[in-house]
Amino acid sequence: MDAITLSKKEFINLKNLVYSASGINLHEGKLELLKSKIAKRMRITKKSFNEYLHYLGSSEAEVIEFIDTVTTNHSFFFRENKSIEHIVYQFSQYPKKKKENGFRIWCAACSTGDEPYSVAVQLKNIGVPFSILATDISHTVLATAQRGIYKNDKVKNVPTQLLHQYFQKGSGKYRGHIKVKKEISRHIHFKKFNLITDTASSTEFDAVLCRNVMIYFDPKTSEKVVKKLYNSILPGGFFAIGNAESLMNMNHKFKTIRKIPSLYIK
Ligand SMILES: C[S@@+](CC[C@H](N)C(=O)[O-])C[C@H]1O[C@@H](n2cnc3c(N)ncnc32)[C@H](O)[C@@H]1O
Repeated sequence: MDAITLSKKEFINLKNLVYSASGINLHEGKLELLKSKIAKRMRITKKSFNEYLHYLGSSEAEVIEFIDTVTTNHSFFFRENKSIEHIVYQFSQYPKKKKENGFRIWCAACSTGDEPYSVAVQLKNIGVPFSILATDISHTVLATAQRGIYKNDKVKNVPTQLLHQYFQKGSGKYRGHIKVKKEISRHIHFKKFNLITDTASSTEFDAVLCRNVMIYFDPKTSEKVVKKLYNSILPGGFFAIGNAESLMNMNHKFKTIRKIPSLYIK
C-alpha cells in the first residue's frame, strides 16, 4: 500500500473530529502515528484514503473504532494500586456503610477491565458488599473486559493469595491465561460511556476512578470531566486519577489526601 500523505487541512479535520467525539487532543507530534492508523483502518474497512476520511466523518462508530487506535488501552492488574488500597481500607473502616447494596464504585475509563477487577478482588477479600460500574468509550475493550480472560503477565502484580482465590488457571488452548471467577465478575456491570458526551446515571458513588485517560484531554476538557464526575460522588466519597495526572491548575472542589497525590475526597 502506498504511504499516506495527510495535508494540514486533513490533519486538522481529523483532529477536530476526534476531539469532538472523545475529547482526545491530538497534537502534530501524532501525525505519523495517525497516518499508520489510517492505513490500518483503510485495510480493515477496505476503503481508499478519501473514502475512509468520508466514512470517518459520517460514522460515529468508526470514529470510536479509530480512537481505539490512537489512544492506548494499556492497563494491567493492580496498576497504581496505592489509591485503590486506600479506598479499600477506608471502606473496611465504615461498618455502618455496609448498607444492603454495598459500596458503589465507578471505573470511568476501565479499558480491558483490569482496573475494576483489581478493585473487586480487594473488596471481596475484605468481605464488604459492593457493586462496580465499569465504563469505557470503546466497545472493543469492553468486550475483552466482559470476557475476563487475560494473559498471565497482566496479573503478575496480583498477590498470590488473591490470584489463587479469585482466578482460574487456563489449560489447553488457554494455557498461559487466567479467567476471573464468576464470584468476582458478578459484581461488575460493564457499559459503554463517553466521558465527554454522556451524562452520569447516578450521583451516589462512594468512589469514582478516572485514571490515565485525562492525559489525552486538554485542560478545559479535563476540567469539565472532573466537574461531571464530582457531581456523581457522594459527600465523603473518593476520586482517583492516574499518577501522571493532576488536578493542579484546575478549578475543582475536591480535597486532597496527604501522601496520596492521585486520590481526592469530596
Ligand atoms: C490507558 S486506558 C486507562 C485504563 C485504566 N483506567 C488504567 O488506568 O489502567 C484509557 C482508556 O480511556 C478510554 N477513553 C478515551 N476517551 C474516552 C472518553 N471520552 N470516554 C470514556 N473513555 C475514554 C480509552 O478507550 C481507554 O480504554
